[in-house]
Amino acid sequence: MTRHLLSIDDVSAEEIQQLFATAAEMHDVQKREVKKLPALRGRTVINLFFEDSTRTRSSFEIAGKWLSADVINLSAKGSSASKGESLRDTVLTVTAMGVDGLVMRHSASGAAHQVAGWLDIPVINAGDGMHEHPTQALLDGYTLQRQLGGPGSLEGKRIAIVGDLTHSRVFRSNVKSLSKLGASVVAVAPPTLMPSGIGEWAKADGFATSYSLDDVLPEVDAVMMLRVQRERMSGGYFPTSREYTVGYGLTRQRLGMLREGVPILHPGPMNRGLEISPEAADAASSRILDQVSAGVAIRMSVLYHLLAGEESA
Ligand code: NCD
Repeated sequence: MTRHLLSIDDVSAEEIQQLFATAAEMHDVQKREVKKLPALRGRTVINLFFEDSTRTRSSFEIAGKWLSADVINLSAKGSSASKGESLRDTVLTVTAMGVDGLVMRHSASGAAHQVAGWLDIPVINAGDGMHEHPTQALLDGYTLQRQLGGPGSLEGKRIAIVGDLTHSRVFRSNVKSLSKLGASVVAVAPPTLMPSGIGEWAKADGFATSYSLDDVLPEVDAVMMLRVQRERMSGGYFPTSREYTVGYGLTRQRLGMLREGVPILHPGPMNRGLEISPEAADAASSRILDQVSAGVAIRMSVLYHLLAGEESA
């Protein structure tokens, strides 16, 4: 396993399965009355978030705490970063306090890579701009693999990733991770939300693209809806919300196009009524809350593999 988790490029297919196997053990901890393992006792992890987050940050916090680490949460609002301190000075300052691992979210693509070059402790990328969000992709893959029948079950499966692909780090990490797990991805978006140059990229990485959700839905084994990321949009990517929903929303009517039991995923936060209807979000086949609980298990697994070291394993 690499020292940092900055991108899905850092983990092989085999290492992903190792992370999943550990996550499955960690998942059982969630069902216990006393949810504590001693693996990271005496270690300190900082969650440094320069961008808003609900589930990722709390999930890393819970994961660290259930492994008995001391977890400190720092958000850029209310830190010296908002007083003009550079990123380098901020991370060197917080890690000079005897920290053993850094979890970081930042709005700049590449920020986690840069920070990893300045530090000699493991860095975990919790989302860098429009680049990658590796733990999200791992928890998505883990959720799907469990749902579809365990290790190897993603082999040859067709998975649609639908929505605002241009702005999505979740998409970029998932294309890599699902491909490593043997699935074939079809990326669905309106032309304005397809990343530029996706044709070449799709050819090189072996995934398909489509502008038609209706064509794709009947033939997929799972569907992952992505949030329309308005905060990253500078202009009009679609005429009205209504038109987006008509073309690309997982509406109640479209649920009927899916084969029976096909899992529905969404990394959250959801825009109910825009990219996903309440009927789809709350359907029996929706795995959205399973993703949240898998998120804790995956982050426990990642923290354990990067921080526990052999001496305390
Ligand atoms: C995603 C993110 O922040 O990249 N959310 C998450 O981590 N669960 C997706 C999003 O914001 O739409």
